[in-house]
Amino acid sequence: MTRADEAVIRHSDELEVRWPSGRVSRLLYLWLRDNCDCPECRVAQTSEKRFMISDVPVGIAPLAVSLDGSRLVLVWPDGHETVYDGEDIEESCASGKVEWTPWDSRFSPTRYPFQAFLQDDSVASAAITEFLDKGAIVLQQAPTQPGTLELLAPRLGPIREVLFARIHDVKVDPSGYNVAHTSITLPPHNDFASYSWPPSVQALHMLVNEAAGGESVIVDGWNALAALRERHPRHFRALCDVPVPFREFDDDNETYAVAPLVRCDVDGNIVSLRFSNQLMQTLDPEAPGIADFYRAYHALCSLLTSDDVKARFRLDGGDILIVAAHRVLHGRESFEPAGRRHLQDAYFELDNVRNHLVVLERKGAQRDG
Ligand SMILES: [Fe+2]
Ligand SMILES: [Zn+2]
Repeated sequence: MTRADEAVIRHSDELEVRWPSGRVSRLLYLWLRDNCDCPECRVAQTSEKRFMISDVPVGIAPLAVSLDGSRLVLVWPDGHETVYDGEDIEESCASGKVEWTPWDSRFSPTRYPFQAFLQDDSVASAAITEFLDKGAIVLQQAPTQPGTLELLAPRLGPIREVLFARIHDVKVDPSGYNVAHTSITLPPHNDFASYSWPPSVQALHMLVNEAAGGESVIVDGWNALAALRERHPRHFRALCDVPVPFREFDDDNETYAVAPLVRCDVDGNIVSLRFSNQLMQTLDPEAPGIADFYRAYHALCSLLTSDDVKARFRLDGGDILIVAAHRVLHGRESFEPAGRRHLQDAYFELDNVRNHLVVLERKGAQRDG
């Protein structure tokens, strides 16, 4: 360790910097070399990184370091010079944690007019912001023609296609491949658990609803999981650890995936719940952890079907419910098949929805600035 001056201390593989703000950063030499922002280390046309970490030895250390205000200058053994602004480094330290607001049975999704959502950027921005926070919104006064969901592509899309159909018809159908095509209760679930990456956004468009009953039900799956994790951490771990098979099929299509019901990111934040009683397949009875899994699964099912978590409302013709499908489960109560009831659904991807919001905000900033 060399004590160059009080603001900058050189350790064997990292630099300790005391910025003028008083904040102290510990910065690995490899990180400092990798993130050099000079024109030689970037593709000028695209600002993408061009420097490749394997072009320098793993034990690289700068020959010289100086700090002038918040301007940090490093000279590397091959003479390459890297200049950092301390504020940029502090920004890189900011955590990217996703904020979301949990809800329970008292929740009612905010409603936005369909046409305004398509035509007015500020309405679209507000609606998408709400959607990312709560995982559910409703668009109302939409046309009731089949295929209307295609119109949402500029705001949410492109449409994420899966097998079976680009736009799915959900109505009573004696030849249907899914319980949704009957009039019986549809317990909370998300669609296509039978894909390795199930669709992360689902739009459910009610074209006509003249049937008695059939209230829509949505559940904040992440909120339920957070409660389970708090009360029974062992159950939560079992749901993260034990892979479960799912299958959806008909005469022409076959989809199958094996994955744990719960997935967390490296910081332990819940990022997805996969839950479909109707698509779940038989687990290996001797699989490791199966006893823990079944106790945990029982607790999870009890939670997800309890009245405390189910937000209920009626979707009428022209309503489109949009859910963040890796978080929010959907279902419906049974209904009287005598009345007409026709729903269409289509899928989108949350990454694309987030992207649309960033672009809208950029446009807004340009307009205001
Ligand atoms: Fe569904
Ligand atoms: Zn450089």
